[in-house]
Formats: sequence, structure tokens, C-alpha cells
Amino acid sequence: MIVCRTKSELKQAILELATANKTLGFVPTMGYLHEGHASLLRQARAANDVTALSIFVNPLQFGPNEDLDRYPRDEDRDLAIASECDVDIVFMPSVQEMYPAKPLTKVIVHEVTERLCGASRPGHFDGVGTVVSKLFHLFRPNRAYFGMKDAQQVAVIEQMVQDLEFDVEIVRCPTVREPDGLALSSRNVFLTAEQREQAVKLSQALNQVKEWAEQPGMTAGDLKRNVIACIEQADQAQIDYVEWLTYPRLSTVEETSTASDWQGTMIMALAVKFGATRLIDNLVMRCELPSGGGEQ
Ligand code: PAJ
Repeated sequence: MIVCRTKSELKQAILELATANKTLGFVPTMGYLHEGHASLLRQARAANDVTALSIFVNPLQFGPNEDLDRYPRDEDRDLAIASECDVDIVFMPSVQEMYPAKPLTKVIVHEVTERLCGASRPGHFDGVGTVVSKLFHLFRPNRAYFGMKDAQQVAVIEQMVQDLEFDVEIVRCPTVREPDGLALSSRNVFLTAEQREQAVKLSQALNQVKEWAEQPGMTAGDLKRNVIACIEQADQAQIDYVEWLTYPRLSTVEETSTASDWQGTMIMALAVKFGATRLIDNLVMRCELPSGGGEQ
């Protein structure tokens, strides 16, 4: 495994390993790796000749009052996990190396960034789009792997790739969860024992969405209220958002809309704070016309 800390070391490693006719699978991360990241690495490993990983806590995607300074880091553990996943190239640059000067160019994706985390974290997806563009140019991957835990991020990156003609296939990877359902996240370490116990309510609420959505007469508003009521059983939960939108366009649907209005793929997305720790999760589901209710 080649560990690169500079862009020139990375270029050299890619020249050596990703020679003609070899495919490169790339997994961008901010480190503090867990089984969710490992699942992306394994998928990259299985489908490509060369597997590459980046570990970079990108300041550009953190707001002024967010957790950049306390974002968890553990280089040695990350490298051990990367090695277990049979990664060929790890790129772990410093902030100075990635941004030697303040960048005056940003990649801004509109519309799909208007709601959910784009609304709660202004500028966040500009930072994501900009750093992922830089990383795509540095790695020139054939495939790049992203987790559906961050479903809006996937939608933003897919839109960016389409609009800017990046020659890379974006692979959507399923969310990896703890045995009780909590989505794995580097931020879970910040939860107190009690918050950790309560956080299970997020996936419990999402697990019921399909069943609720199929109940006759259920409106978008009712569906969200059911999710909120389930999460509010956790007394330490502070809801940031609960939204029922189309996916991947993330367009709103009327509060009064019902199953027959939800055609195609929909997302129930939520962000909830436990103390200072903000967790996100979602359920993406195909919606079909209720049986017997549709046009012939
Ligand atoms: P990070 O939060 O480290 O996540 C890196 C990748 O791992 C993302 O694609 C994310 O969706 C995926 N991931 C995280 N938790 C997961 C889980 N439980 N199951 C499956 N996949 C999971 O997302 C970022 O970093 C950054 O925004 C980045 C894209 C690296 C740009 O800085």
C-alpha cells in the first residue's frame, strides 16, 4: 500500500499502478474509518484493478460553527483498515497541500442543494463539490464509490458529474448499520450512552415508512408527522429536518399529496441532533401506484 501525502507523490503512484487498461476505483473519505467506509472500499476492490482512498477532513465543507476542530481523527487506525481492505493507494494530504492558497473557484450545484443538509448547512455542498472535483482531477478514477447514508451528497455528485462531463461512474453503495439499526457514522463516537440508546429511534422511524406510506389516505404531511412522533419518543432528540421528497431531484411534494402522487423514487430524509452531535439518515424507496388505484 502506497501512502501519499503530497499531490506529486499521488501522481507518481497513479502513474505506476494505474497503467493502461487498468481500472481505478476511488473512495473519498474524511477518515476515522468504520465499516461503512470499509464496505465502499471492498466494493471498489471487487470491481477494479486498483483501489484508491483519500482521507482529508475538508475545511471548505464545514460552516463557521460546525465541528471541524473536533472532527475525530485516527491515522494509524485508518491505515490499518485501509490495509485490511487491500487498498493500493492512500492519499492523506494536509490542508496546506490541498489548499496552498484560498481557492477562488468553487463548484456549486444548484437546486438539489436547496433542501435538507444544503438548507441546514449553507455552503456545505459547495465545499463538497469543490473538493470532490479536485480529487477526481487528481485521481482520474473510472469509478467512485459513495454511500447512500449521505443520499443528498450522492445526488449532488451525480448532478455535478453529469453537468461537468466528469468521465467517472458514480456507484451508489447501501448504508451500513449497527445491529440495532443505527447508521454507522464517524460522529457516533460523540454520543453519550443514553443518546446512543435513543438514536435507534431514527432507523426505527424509517423502517416504518414503507408500511405507513401504503396506508390508504396517508398524506405526505401525515407521513412526516408519524416519523417526527416516533423520533420525539427520544427526549434528547432535537429534530433539524424530516422531509419527504423526490429522489434524486429532491423536489418537494404537496403536504396533502398521497400515494398516487408519489411516482418513481422518493426519499424520507432526516437530520436530528443529540446534544452537539448531528446525525443524518434516510430511506430511499420506489413508489408505485397503489394496486387497483391507477390508470389503465
Ligand atoms: P465521510 O463522511 O468520511 O464519508 C465518506 C463516504 O463514506 C461517503 O460516501 C459516505 O456516504 C460513506 N459512508 C459514511 N457512512 C456510511 C455508512 N454507514 N454506510 C455506507 N456508507 C457510508 O462524505 C464525506 O466523507 C465527504 O463529504 C467527502 C465525500 C469525502 C468529501 O469531503
